[in-house]
Amino acid sequence: MRKPVIAGNWKMYKTISESVETAIALKPLVANANHCEVVIAPVFTSLKTVADRLEGSNIKIAGQNCAPEKEEGALTGEVSPVMLRDAGASLVIIGHSERRQFFAETDGMVNRKVKAAVTSDLTVILCMGETLEQRDKGQAEQVVRGQLEGGLNGLTASDMSRIIIAYEPVWAIGTGRTATPEQAQEMHAFIRRVFAQRHSEDAAQDLRILYGGSVKPDNIAGLMKQTDIDGALVGGASLKAESFGEIVNYKR
Ligand code: 13P
Repeated sequence: MRKPVIAGNWKMYKTISESVETAIALKPLVANANHCEVVIAPVFTSLKTVADRLEGSNIKIAGQNCAPEKEEGALTGEVSPVMLRDAGASLVIIGHSERRQFFAETDGMVNRKVKAAVTSDLTVILCMGETLEQRDKGQAEQVVRGQLEGGLNGLTASDMSRIIIAYEPVWAIGTGRTATPEQAQEMHAFIRRVFAQRHSEDAAQDLRILYGGSVKPDNIAGLMKQTDIDGALVGGASLKAESFGEIVNYKR
């Protein structure tokens, strides 16, 4: 049985005090959510404070990005996986489409980050997804296959237990236009098939594949009913404790 993961990506929102306020408000709302893992990803500057305030709770902390080097070095502006752990994170989001689009992150760079993160005992939420143009041209599967294979290149079988995939079609992010549960299911099943071919059927059956892109309290249940959807990576609707709490406690 794959345990679902509901993760909130706070992107570049919230000061330290706003982050703490939201995290503290979320805590009681999800305290009984044993059916899934609950994750929030605050900005770097809020990580440590939020992690300290949530200690002993069932909410896990994720970084939104990390350096391609494990520990330290002359890399101005970067934060290493070891530093994320030190700040209280146990997961990290890597390869988000906003990083690929606005910061020119390639599959090669994503792959280096994934390797640095897994060797630092972080669980990786590896993001992938096609643009509208690519979907309209019938290239969606080819693009996602490239991102999956590129991102996981050279990883070992034992690294796979530290990998979570997030399928986030770029056209559904922040647009209010969610993929239908059927569209998402189709791509999730494809991702699982490619993963099984590349790794093993067992690893593929254990792989959690999250959907992201305009997930809201009113569409989460329909998405979660799909066989290959194992959770969600939520942007806008995770910024308010109430709506994120509703998503975590989706109707099962
Ligand atoms: P929205 O939920 O705001 O569409 O964002 C999705 C996302 O990018 C999560 O990583």
